[in-house]
Amino acid sequence: MSAIRSVVLGSGGYLPERVMTNGELSGMVDTSDEWITQRTGIRERRIAADGELTSDLGIEAARSALAKANMTADDIDLIVLATATPDNTFPAAAVSIQEALGMRHGAAFDLQAVCSGFLFALSTADSLIRSGQARRALVIGAETFSRILDWTDRGTCVLFGDGAGAVVLSGESQPGWRTDRGILSAHLRSDGRFKEKLYVDGGPSATGTVGHLRMEGREVFKHAVSMVSDVIEDAFEATGFTAADIDWFVPHQANVRIIDATAKKLGIPLEKVVRTVDRHGNTSAASIPLALWEASKDGRIKRGDLLLLESMGGGFTWGAVLLRW
Ligand code: COA
Repeated sequence: MSAIRSVVLGSGGYLPERVMTNGELSGMVDTSDEWITQRTGIRERRIAADGELTSDLGIEAARSALAKANMTADDIDLIVLATATPDNTFPAAAVSIQEALGMRHGAAFDLQAVCSGFLFALSTADSLIRSGQARRALVIGAETFSRILDWTDRGTCVLFGDGAGAVVLSGESQPGWRTDRGILSAHLRSDGRFKEKLYVDGGPSATGTVGHLRMEGREVFKHAVSMVSDVIEDAFEATGFTAADIDWFVPHQANVRIIDATAKKLGIPLEKVVRTVDRHGNTSAASIPLALWEASKDGRIKRGDLLLLESMGGGFTWGAVLLRW
């Protein structure tokens, strides 16, 4: 029986020009290149320029994904932007992207699931496509976490960076088999009991301020590998795929130790793991689409490859997606 699948027709990304190295951070807080590299795998991250907004990053990523897909905004009828750092409280930063692309039809909205945002957005767009409410979607992750960091807190400010990534999804008729291209299975989770482990201490309703990111790093670390592995096992059980079927593991890029421990637990060889955290840091909702962009651009990810995407972030939220490129 044939099925409509949301197939990725192009991916894109954008990184702000300014590079902030660990060395520069060690002049700002009591830290060192050695500590950051050993504990996180991060060597540098990008920082948005003054006046460069989340939507500006998202626009560049969207344009690059559309170009790769040989499409224009006329071909798109949905924009879902995953971000925890929108330009303003409202309207959604997605409508600024819609405007900049010259798109006068369809719908654009923001979605917030912090570091899991891209997978939540991908799954939402996939559902709208498969239900017939949209035909082609831009799914974007864009963040300027540099704006919500406490630059005096060495426990958090060394971990994050700014950036944006995007994919173009298109509803395509496929045979309905395991060999189909497109999103094959999406599994989303959250558990609000952990909301104080990783949060921002401000917001329009709570304080009327923007606030700063606060985190119990060790607690996040403790839960990350087991939560992510559990949801991946759910994805395997739902589809019949196993770790041996995976061509590329594209995890959220928070910490190389979390990434490698998850791959090891699942039995995925490190050669099949896409890592960008060393150069991007944790770009929250942008990290997975940036990793997809990089690994498809350099020829690692090829058409027909089976990809396993996973993420975990504030909330806690976490999820896994199986996707054939
Ligand atoms: N430079 C130097 N020392 C630092 C430091 C820094 N940037 N940040 C913390 N430290 C210190 C701590 O103060 C502590 O010192 P103490 O032993 O004197 O108290 C020591 O390093 C160990 O701290 P701890 O928090 O136990 O380190 P850790 O091995 O857990 O590593 C993280 C800290 C943040 C790197 C790690 O917990 C982590 O990656 N957690 C997950 C975070 C994450 O991924 N968040 C986003 C999820 S989307």
